[in-house]
Amino acid sequence: MCGIVGYIGKKQAAPILLGGLKKLEYRGYDSAGIAVREEDGVRVVKAQGRLSNLIEKTEGGAVFTGTAGIGHTRWATHGVPSECNAHPHCSFDGEVTVVHNGILENYRELKEKLLRGGYVFRSETDTEVIVALIDYYYKKYKGGPLDAIARFMQRARGAYAIAVLFRDRKEDIYVARKDSPMIVGVGEGEMFVASDVPAILNHTRKVYYLDNLEMARLCAEGAEFYNIDRERVEKTPVTVDMDPSAAEKDGWEHFMIKEIHEQPRAVADTLRRYVRDGRVDFSEAGVGEEMLKPSRVVIVGCGSAYHVGAVLQYVIEGLARIPVRVELASEFRYRNFIFEENTLVLAISQSGETADTLAAVREAKAHGAKTLAVVNVQGSSIAREADNTVFTVAGAEIAVATTKAYSAQLIVGYLLALEFARLGGRLGGEEYARLLDGLASIPEKMQSVLSHKEELQKFAAEHMNLHDVFMIGRGIDYAVCMEGALKLKEVSYVHTEAYAAGELKHGTISLIEEGTLVVGVLSQSAVCEKTLGNLEEVRSRGANVVCLVREGCAVGAPAGTVWTVPPIEEYFAASLLVLPLQLLSYYVSVQLGHDVDKPRNLAKSVTVE
Ligand code: F6R
Repeated sequence: MCGIVGYIGKKQAAPILLGGLKKLEYRGYDSAGIAVREEDGVRVVKAQGRLSNLIEKTEGGAVFTGTAGIGHTRWATHGVPSECNAHPHCSFDGEVTVVHNGILENYRELKEKLLRGGYVFRSETDTEVIVALIDYYYKKYKGGPLDAIARFMQRARGAYAIAVLFRDRKEDIYVARKDSPMIVGVGEGEMFVASDVPAILNHTRKVYYLDNLEMARLCAEGAEFYNIDRERVEKTPVTVDMDPSAAEKDGWEHFMIKEIHEQPRAVADTLRRYVRDGRVDFSEAGVGEEMLKPSRVVIVGCGSAYHVGAVLQYVIEGLARIPVRVELASEFRYRNFIFEENTLVLAISQSGETADTLAAVREAKAHGAKTLAVVNVQGSSIAREADNTVFTVAGAEIAVATTKAYSAQLIVGYLLALEFARLGGRLGGEEYARLLDGLASIPEKMQSVLSHKEELQKFAAEHMNLHDVFMIGRGIDYAVCMEGALKLKEVSYVHTEAYAAGELKHGTISLIEEGTLVVGVLSQSAVCEKTLGNLEEVRSRGANVVCLVREGCAVGAPAGTVWTVPPIEEYFAASLLVLPLQLLSYYVSVQLGHDVDKPRNLAKSVTVE
């Protein structure tokens, strides 16, 4: 979604801002802009479409000379993607300039008030209302920038992270946030602002995390932090442990294919962090035994993170015999859930910023449930708000469609399942060791699946004119289908649906026509024959059937195209089965000429509901 970057120091600001925005491109956007403080006031340049348009328009930043500025990539919420609606937005007289992430929920009511006060608006955005309101308070109460921003914060409902330039405060940049991330980076005689760490990683690793309802004043020498009552807040910077090269393609054509290939490493690193001396060990995450002995587990997440939950429900229930519910975070937060005693809410999120998952964590905490987050980004909101966080060790994920974070989340989930089972007295000794050995074998087996990628590439080339695809399976195989179908449709725009294999004939089978592609996933011995029967039903109605099979699954020899993955403990099969589906999605998208790393309309981090 939208991205913010800011700079104040001695260097020319514009190239730094453009460089930062480039690192935020992966979040998804439709327009971009920068504002730089020049001798004669704040100058703004914006462009619709790709960042390259803005870079061209500003000659790589050379049209500016100033050493302080703010920049933004916009993912449209209020108002169409256009140059006019792009940020930064300025007050009419140029006094106040703002970039904003999030949604101001009561913008209509505030706009009415401002219109009555004589303000006029040029764009359709809620952000222009923020600009006008800050400008109004600044001029009316004359209490200075922090006073004006604090008054705005008292009136605002919704989520926001803002960076603000005041024309007459030549030495400062101001930032504030509520429910939308914002960090302040520390350099030598220079300071940075960003909504996301990668934007400033080339300049500094030392950052302050702004907390909810906090503000900061930045000048070249440092930053001061304030709460909403304008009282000083002391903060300690942290050093972020993220490799700047993670945000580079390293010779790969796209981030998605690079990240698909990074999965064996992501899995190995995650295992290495949480398995020690032949035992699962979450002590680093501060997760004590009490949290690992729940009476029931509720898994919340969105999109692929939800699909991880869909796999884990089978694994946890199977191994630990603890009842599990998997809930879409966006539904969970509004459904008046019945929290039973000793419920553990497991929140899964790559970014740690997904608005609905964050709200689900808050809802769970408000009802006294224990919350455990599985998150990839350190310092993110969900990581900071959940009672405990187990970090996946996937490294920065740049492609919008998740791959390696999904795989690392599965691993943490499997390890939790083992611990639930062990502490619940269901698993021990040899069986525990055997399952851990099974997990340890995943990276090598993943590598082996990836080494057959040409098969998928060839298939994609031959089948690029797909229009409807169904992926069917039962149990864990169905959960894998959900992820495979999301992957294919989001990057290739080919309509794909996941179906529980036994459910197809209750209506959807009417959509099967001559040549419809149906992928059957077959890894769970107890239900393989059933799914094979369902595949025969669609084949006899003209479907082109492909079987994705775990070697060793007792399925006989299905006719037609067969993709296999190496033998693996059935509970962990999703970790291998997902790879061919990711590769298929990637290659179909590339064949069709789509922007595979940044599919249309999508954002990497969904910070609005
Ligand atoms: C799909 C995808 C999304 C995310 C979802 C949740 O490829 O990436 O469905 O899984 O938006 O995001 P996080 O995990 O950041 O909470």
